[in-house]
Amino acid sequence: MEIIKAIYQRRATRHFSDAVVTKGVALDLIRAATQAPSAFNQQPWAFAVFHGRERLRTYSELAKAHLLATTEPLFGLDPRIDQYCDGNFNVYHDADTLIVILAKPARHCPVEDCFLAAQNLMLAACGMGLGSCPVGFTRPWFNLPAVKAELGIPASYTAALPIVVGYPAMVPPPVVKSSAEIACWQWDE
Ligand SMILES: Cc1cc2nc3c(=O)[nH]c(=O)nc-3n(C[C@H](O)[C@H](O)[C@H](O)COP(=O)(O)O)c2cc1C
Repeated sequence: MEIIKAIYQRRATRHFSDAVVTKGVALDLIRAATQAPSAFNQQPWAFAVFHGRERLRTYSELAKAHLLATTEPLFGLDPRIDQYCDGNFNVYHDADTLIVILAKPARHCPVEDCFLAAQNLMLAACGMGLGSCPVGFTRPWFNLPAVKAELGIPASYTAALPIVVGYPAMVPPPVVKSSAEIACWQWDE
């Protein structure tokens, strides 16, 4: 797929089919992520991969419980707030694969670099016929020292962005994008 098509076609995917993501596909996505630019070419990222719908369902429950217990009335803007309180809601949208982009300690802007890697991963997923959805909601849970220790994430790494990937069950509905606000345009004709 042409990159420009992927940019316009990628949508947050929240309905996945039963098709299973293979290890090879997960590695291809990670390799695409690592082609992102980074400050001083530090490449300050690492990846934690979790596979299997049951595993993700369990992690969803734990992350929801943590967030609902620790966050003040959740961001009122989020239309999914009622779902988060629903015991049956899976924050990982029943996907079978979760890739958490981890920021390694680095001098400049490791988390920003990881977000560039994240966009690469999501565009690559789109180009490969997969859907993806960032799940920022679960980042605080991944950053709990006890959770990192349990999962094998080095203590000094920071979960920058969890992203679910899988094969879409349907084409996600269109999302309205505002036209760009050009705050300043100094351009001699
Ligand atoms: C940092 C970040 C965190 C996000 N967290 C969540 C989340 O926890 N759950 C979710 O379903 N979508 C999440 N999203 C997806 C956004 O809701 C989605 O990107 C937005 O509605 C625009 O839709 P689009 O991605 O289809 O353009 C997140 C996106 C970003 C960039």
